[in-house]
Amino acid sequence: VNPEKERLYEAYELCSKLYHFLLKNTQHGQEAMAYLRSRGFNDKLIDQFGLGFAPDRWDTLVQFLGKREFDLLEMEKGGLLSARQDRDGYVDKFRNRIMFPIHDRNGRVIAFAGRILGEGQPKYLNSPESLLFNKSRTLYNLHQAKTSVRKQRQIILCEGYGDVISTWEAGFQNVVATMGTSLTEQQISVMKSMAEEVIVSYDGDRAGLNAAMKVLPMLENAGLKVRIALLGDGLDPDDYYRKYGGDRYRHVLENAAASTKFKLIYLKKNHILLEEQGKIAYTREALPVIAELSSSTEREVYLRELATELQLSYESLKQDCNLLRQSMQ
Ligand code: GTP
Ligand code: MN
Ligand code: MN
Ligand code: MN
Ligand code: MN
Repeated sequence: VNPEKERLYEAYELCSKLYHFLLKNTQHGQEAMAYLRSRGFNDKLIDQFGLGFAPDRWDTLVQFLGKREFDLLEMEKGGLLSARQDRDGYVDKFRNRIMFPIHDRNGRVIAFAGRILGEGQPKYLNSPESLLFNKSRTLYNLHQAKTSVRKQRQIILCEGYGDVISTWEAGFQNVVATMGTSLTEQQISVMKSMAEEVIVSYDGDRAGLNAAMKVLPMLENAGLKVRIALLGDGLDPDDYYRKYGGDRYRHVLENAAASTKFKLIYLKKNHILLEEQGKIAYTREALPVIAELSSSTEREVYLRELATELQLSYESLKQDCNLLRQSMQ
């Protein structure tokens, strides 16, 4: 064992409990509590995810950790404090932020994400990488999701903390998030070791769609089955759940699109199908997606849909698709 690492685990655990207490039981936490309530996060969820509040002061943790005789230089290296600019000493890294503790898969607190109350930049401030925290290996909420993931052999992947919390409240415990960074091979192998299928439930905006398009081949190459939840309207899972409720969000997740379907929808968005050039351009991009399917039944299903959609004959699409297949070999 590495004693410095153990001390840092202890500090993160204590600070996480302090932030949670300050949110729920003190005057400092009232505005943050009101903000969370306004977003629909109730007490049960706040407890389940250990949410907290870092007060608008420079020395909450400096005092708290100092009194407990933690080495403040160590705490700075560990990401809880920052060195003062003007003179010797330390200040809290997180001030006036809603605190989301980030756990490792065994449930130990290893980092925080701090959200500003309302608008402002940066919206989220994350702990730096440390002895405890390796960003590219961590999936938010994996410690609470893993039992359900293993049981169902399925994992729901979101972009953000709020998305995980709302998806959990909607009744899905097998939900995790990547926390703003793009999905890494290490995170994929963690998922692969527990699940056969990934439901990608990314934000329904342009950025989220692009990100989903990017992770699709990565997940498929790892041998995972992939489906994509289609939220539409630019909403993220949290927005969608709050706006339309659990029944509709559950429906979206349960009816998540197969990857071919998603790719076709994604490609279609760039074209105006009422115009000949748009039809031709979309067909040119759509056919390779269909041609790479090894099942001729599946190819027929998608080709027939495409034919109806574009008012073309199934036969001509099939012919072009088969030509493509020959050239692909
Ligand atoms: P809410 O506005 O609280 O609902 O956040 P969100 O999760 O919907 O945020 P958004 O869709 O903008 O971004 C998705 C994820 O990217 C967030 O959950 C964060 O993990 C990360 N992220 C967003 N903004 C920032 C930022 O300013 N700094 C960092 N480090 N990460 C961010
Ligand atoms: Mn509690
Ligand atoms: Mn987003
Ligand atoms: Mn979002
Ligand atoms: Mn959001």
